[in-house]
Amino acid sequence: MVKLPSLLVTAYAICAAGISGVMGAKYSLSDNIVGDGFYSAFEWQAISDPTHGRVKYVDQSTSRSQNLTYASGSSFILRTDYKTYLGSGGAGRQSKSYSTHVAVFDVRHMPQGCGTWPAIWETAKGNWPYSGEVDIVEGVNDQAPNAATLPYWTWMHHALIANANGNGQLNCDAYANSNTGCGVSFNQGNSFGPSFNNNGGGWFAMERNNNFIKVWFWPRSSGSVPSDLRNGAQTVNTDSWGTPAAHFPNTQCNLADHFDAHNIIINLTLCGDWAGNVYGQSGCPSTCVDFVNNNPGSFKNAYFDFAAVRVYK
Ligand SMILES: *[C@@H]1O[C@H](CO)[C@@H](O)[C@H](O)[C@H]1NC(C)=O
Ligand SMILES: *[C@@H]1O[C@H](CO)[C@@H](O)[C@H](O)[C@H]1NC(C)=O
Repeated sequence: MVKLPSLLVTAYAICAAGISGVMGAKYSLSDNIVGDGFYSAFEWQAISDPTHGRVKYVDQSTSRSQNLTYASGSSFILRTDYKTYLGSGGAGRQSKSYSTHVAVFDVRHMPQGCGTWPAIWETAKGNWPYSGEVDIVEGVNDQAPNAATLPYWTWMHHALIANANGNGQLNCDAYANSNTGCGVSFNQGNSFGPSFNNNGGGWFAMERNNNFIKVWFWPRSSGSVPSDLRNGAQTVNTDSWGTPAAHFPNTQCNLADHFDAHNIIINLTLCGDWAGNVYGQSGCPSTCVDFVNNNPGSFKNAYFDFAAVRVYK
């Protein structure tokens, strides 16, 4: 995701200037995924973890029989195993793909604990990384705040300038920022980990069109949650959602050229290239792999609880 080495070299290309300052729009509900609906909306990927986590992703029937996923009328749970000694995780990729769209994630709980690396993100099925990627929720080892990221390799030398909430400009050129990509840290500490969960979670929303990509976050207790988003309305108007936590405008590059239609992916890995590498710095005990191997009970709170995922087009 964010920390892989750059494997690509492309020729420098100046993109046509985009139209900046374009407003959002009205979108209509296209997919309303609640409870059991997650089983038909997502494909389970029993793959080996490309980020080298201490996990074994399982297929849907295994996840059901081991209760690693669990659906009720208003809730969908996805967790890592916390009873046996080798960690297993879940990876789900939605079968549908979207270009211009708004995705709303109503999340009650996200995986927490040392070694956890939860992610909600979007990418295409093939041609990665050329097909682009947007990380909406991502973090490791309970370290708040959440970061929304467009990985640098999507942009290569294009030097997209992202305006982070008025806090100044970030240069997404990999050569300018030592491969950290185009990331924006959220101001709200309760956007990730235990403080997110203690607050009853909240809503993440991402709007993508050819002019910009925006990501918003509202904690459950926020007084300014847009009512269309909160109520899962048939239509939403992003113009009324206020300042996003992350805003990646199309100032120098043509987003349509760099982002294919994307699937939504929800997964949880343990340790691996990011959570494992910064494990000690996060104030976690022992080593990440040993901790996972020997402390299954510590992963009881390593689960997602989704009230809904809604996609508007
Ligand atoms: C999740 O799964 C994808 C494969 O679909 C993988 O590339 C990614 O590294 C996994 N881990 C996280 C934390 O997203
Ligand atoms: C399965 O998981 C759900 C959600 O965490 C829980 O409520 C339920 O009791 C579990 N069922 C079993 C058989 O453990």
